[in-house]
Amino acid sequence: MEIDVDLFEYQARDMFEAYGVPVLQGITADTPEEVEAAAAKIGGVVVVKAQVKAGGRGKAGGVKVAKSPEEAKELSKNIFGLDIKGHIVKRVMVAQGASIEKEFYFSVLLDRSNRTFLSLCSVEGGMEIEQLAEERPEALAKVPVDATKGIDLATALSIAKQGGFDDETAAKVAPVFVKLYDVFVKEDATLVEVNPLILSADGEVIALDGKVSLDDNAEFRHERESMERDALDPLEAKAKAMDLNYVKLDGEVGIIGNGAGLVMSTLDVVAYAGEKHGKVRPANFLDIGGGASAEVMAAGLDVILNDPQVKSVFVNVFGGITACDAVANGIVGALKTLGDKATKPLVVRLDGNNVLEGRYILNEFAHPLVTLVDTMDDAADKAAELANR
Ligand SMILES: Nc1ncnc2c1ncn2[C@@H]1O[C@H](COP(=O)(O)OP(=O)(O)O)[C@@H](O)[C@H]1O
Ligand SMILES: [Mg+2]
Repeated sequence: MEIDVDLFEYQARDMFEAYGVPVLQGITADTPEEVEAAAAKIGGVVVVKAQVKAGGRGKAGGVKVAKSPEEAKELSKNIFGLDIKGHIVKRVMVAQGASIEKEFYFSVLLDRSNRTFLSLCSVEGGMEIEQLAEERPEALAKVPVDATKGIDLATALSIAKQGGFDDETAAKVAPVFVKLYDVFVKEDATLVEVNPLILSADGEVIALDGKVSLDDNAEFRHERESMERDALDPLEAKAKAMDLNYVKLDGEVGIIGNGAGLVMSTLDVVAYAGEKHGKVRPANFLDIGGGASAEVMAAGLDVILNDPQVKSVFVNVFGGITACDAVANGIVGALKTLGDKATKPLVVRLDGNNVLEGRYILNEFAHPLVTLVDTMDDAADKAAELANR
């Protein structure tokens, strides 16, 4: 299974700029001193914005307005290190401050279930899209986009009207929608979202926040390795270097499985079990694939155990071509390799080919952190309980 690569806001901003989408000046900074220099360079009012791949940064205290470079520097000290939905802020973008008249919402995405492109649009932007969809569904237009025709100016105008824009404002935003669709197609994106797209006090339409997900299957068509490397968080980068399919999520129960389908259903049972145990949730998706060798298992455990949010780990393996005894040896080998670095409880459920041999190996090894559980539901429950201690 290939995984989409989400870009950071600053990368989306740069991409937008290259396609002529109106954006404001933005400079990344990794220290308060760099923030001060960037703010001085931009001049005037700036906004210091946490660069993490999670929405709702504003609400979490990750977006702050500063009137001077000194103030920007001081404010950034509270943004660096901030935990936003499990993502620690290591980099910020210092953006030119806009004076906002109105905030709108626009996105175009790959609608896999309906095998089409879909545009979402609303004259009521700013708040998170999930919230808008829930609270004001009638204000959010969902317009299927014919991939053979795309979004030309006429289509863009129609989308804007369906999103509740008046004629005058629709005429202003429509050319920007066309450019954003251009980004979507030419960059092989699965999502291009602008929230908010704003009308400034001077009557300009500007993309103030951007989210872009790229289709990893089309990676070969683009020269953007360094961008993708930058876009990954350190754990994701480490996993990618080891050829693991890993996605960090914001919960507490680490998950390792073999096969994308099994890992998906493991996420579901853990989320369900978590309801009873302090609402703990899956901390990641990690598929170690068919050959669950000791090296791959060690690499997977290493990535997961290095996530400070992880409180317990659920290893869920169905033995097939690689039988359970090989997997069990993999786990033993991994725990020996990791030594003192393995500090969190592991719940292991083995089933399938050579299951008895596999369980025997782990029972013999009798590692104090390892609990063997026979069924997937019971194992999920145990892992959730341990994460909630
Ligand atoms: N450059 C900017 N100038 C002025 N206000 C901004 C700027 N960037 C963001 N904001 C304000 O902060 C809010 C949240 O910022 P945003 O970039 O959308 O982050 P998030 O969606 O993660 O909360 C925006 O809706 C907007 O009101
Ligand atoms: Mg936003």
